[in-house]
Amino acid sequence: MEMTERPRRLRSTPGLRRMVRETRVDASSLIYPMFVTDGKGRIEEIEALPGQYRYTVDMTDGKIESLLKAGVCSIMLFGIPEKKDELGTQAYAEDGIIQRAVSHIKEHYPEMFVITDVCMCEYTSHGHCGVLHECCGHYDVDNDSTLELLQKVAVSQVRAGSDMVAPSDMMDGRVAAIRYALDAGGHTGTPIMSYAVKYASSYYGPFREAAGSAPAFGDRKSYQMDYHNAREGLREALLDIREGADIIMVKPAMSYLDIVKEVHDNTNVPVATYSVSGEYAMVKAAAKNGWIDEESVMCEMAVSAYRAGASVYETYFAEEIAKCIREGRIG
Ligand code: PBG
Ligand code: ZN
Repeated sequence: MEMTERPRRLRSTPGLRRMVRETRVDASSLIYPMFVTDGKGRIEEIEALPGQYRYTVDMTDGKIESLLKAGVCSIMLFGIPEKKDELGTQAYAEDGIIQRAVSHIKEHYPEMFVITDVCMCEYTSHGHCGVLHECCGHYDVDNDSTLELLQKVAVSQVRAGSDMVAPSDMMDGRVAAIRYALDAGGHTGTPIMSYAVKYASSYYGPFREAAGSAPAFGDRKSYQMDYHNAREGLREALLDIREGADIIMVKPAMSYLDIVKEVHDNTNVPVATYSVSGEYAMVKAAAKNGWIDEESVMCEMAVSAYRAGASVYETYFAEEIAKCIREGRIG
């Protein structure tokens, strides 16, 4: 009889399937995005993100404790201020929502690694990620004056106790500007995770509802990337690494796994990917209708991100994924 290769042999028993797995996941690589808001005593469910909430600072303890218990030890904080203005001043106020949330969480749960999003859009009245200027009869975001504000935001967050800053604004030169400001402030050891490769995406819809940060006019296409482009993604990543980024983030995740692989294969820094609000909302909606199995789709999405080359995975499902890892359903 003719000899044939039989790859199926390696899948023949559960023990062997596990033994030869190429991708393994660990809860320590998960980041949970969390929304904090001004006020007291409130936990509000976000309509477009069932199971996700806006917490006032005094109400964050329960969630932090259940995350830690499940093995999720990193969060990314997004602040939703009561007052927004033209220059987004609450983003860098000493008693701003993020600054108060970080210091509360780090004081009570020093073991939680707290990352802060550096951007203006949750704080500006017009919802854009930077300062506006008028140019030939229309408004646009002014790259270079925004850099000065981003420096202030990052420094104020780190002063409040942030362990790592994550600029998501997509202004050119921001990583170098933030690195310079942090170093000048004595924060030479604080890392920067850059959302280097952030596409102008409709998957951000539910987040913008959660944060009330949809642009009042126009869109973000002048600063976020065109999703037809892959090589440009690598160029953005390489520039940010040269400017001092410690981790490169690709965002969204599921429709951009080719970019994750491209960045992984062509750089030597850790690659993170963010499974954004629209990805979560789609899974929740389909599962609610009984059209898909929520848990197994969630696990499949997570593993695909790691398989593509991500070593860090940010997701609204972080706690549930950690439980699946612990109970041996993935891993
Ligand atoms: C702010 C920011 C956004 C997200 C993360 N940081 C929204 C945007 O760029 O409009 C989206 C995250 C998500 O959809 O879960 N710049
Ligand atoms: Zn923004």
